[in-house]
Amino acid sequence: MKTIDQYNFAGKKALVRVDFNVPLDENYHITDDNRIRAAVPTIQKILNDGGAVILMSHLGRPKGGPEDRYSLTHLVSRLKEEFNTTVMFANDCIGPEAVTLASALKPGEILLLENLRFHKAEEKGDPDFAKQLAALGDVYVNDAFGTAHREHASTAVVARYFPNDKVVGYVMQAELENARRVLENVERPYTAIMGGAKISDKILIIERLLDKVDNLIIGGGMSYTFVKADGGTIGSSLVEEDKVDLAARLIAMAREKGVQLMIPVDSVVADAFSNDANIDTCLSHHIKPMWMGLDIGPSAREQYAAVIANSKTILWNGPMGVFEMSNFSVGTEAVAEAVVEATSRGAYSLIGGGDSAAAVNQLGYADRVSYVSTGGGALLEYMEGKTLPGVAAIERNDY
Ligand code: 3PG
Ligand code: MG
Repeated sequence: MKTIDQYNFAGKKALVRVDFNVPLDENYHITDDNRIRAAVPTIQKILNDGGAVILMSHLGRPKGGPEDRYSLTHLVSRLKEEFNTTVMFANDCIGPEAVTLASALKPGEILLLENLRFHKAEEKGDPDFAKQLAALGDVYVNDAFGTAHREHASTAVVARYFPNDKVVGYVMQAELENARRVLENVERPYTAIMGGAKISDKILIIERLLDKVDNLIIGGGMSYTFVKADGGTIGSSLVEEDKVDLAARLIAMAREKGVQLMIPVDSVVADAFSNDANIDTCLSHHIKPMWMGLDIGPSAREQYAAVIANSKTILWNGPMGVFEMSNFSVGTEAVAEAVVEATSRGAYSLIGGGDSAAAVNQLGYADRVSYVSTGGGALLEYMEGKTLPGVAAIERNDY
């Protein structure tokens, strides 16, 4: 697989697929710019070589036509600030305006294309659409790790039109290297922390991790499916009824394999799904009717922190509670602190997944963990052992 350092961009127009699918608030301000910051070295390398950069990305999940809240115009000022150069914007990622702006682009300049997903052809992987994108540049750089699990026109199909001029950028390289660090030759004890709402998103990864880890810490909404499988009473906590048997099987599998699987012993519970609800703390196995667990409790926090403190390799994916609500963010904060602490004493820590990465960024811990992934689904799929189409398209010559 050719990497960006093996390519000299002098005089070239680089068509760069980035994942600028960043969260925006109601005023369209970027609330977490991790993905933009991550792509800076790739863009800078091309500009420094004497190349021009054509950036393309999706944002959100528009229905297939333009929608203001998903417009990449909201990112232009952030890019100008970052690179201190001309940043042009094409109101459509293909068509005459994009063609004119791309052909007039000078070395050292940036052109940002409007949201690729304003065309249905993007997600369909339409070759004709991909060809129109390809016509804008001389070389294709895929640096969109967060979207590498999608076989879309801009992430995979477009590579066909650059048989000798396609490379991965620094984000893609770093992501793959860091993911491998928690899959191969890991230092032990190895602890995986899995959180988030749904067990169904994490089944394959949990199964795979049971062959690798020493400790598997469970948190977030999916805890209660495990608690129920373990015979607990969970009130009106989130539960995936059709996954209770599976959770029981995972608990049994962990026991067989000698993995310590930890379910939160206690929970912060509330009588409504709201930050203003009445709150209490109780054993996760004995939640009162009409009450729901929304965060791990104080004893679980202590137990988890102790296990994390003892670990040499840590993988964290998914928050421990409803992190967006301040009353239920304590568990996630405690885990983040424990991970930072372990890292400072030499452990390797990889933070993956949109929400846990956002939590670590919001808490200001991004520089105090080993690596914050820009990928959610992409990282999970890679770790599950799946081929990422965005990587395969660069690797393979017959793509
Ligand atoms: C993400 O945030 O998960 C990536 O940008 C991919 O977006 P998608 O899940 O809408 O394909
Ligand atoms: Mg996703």
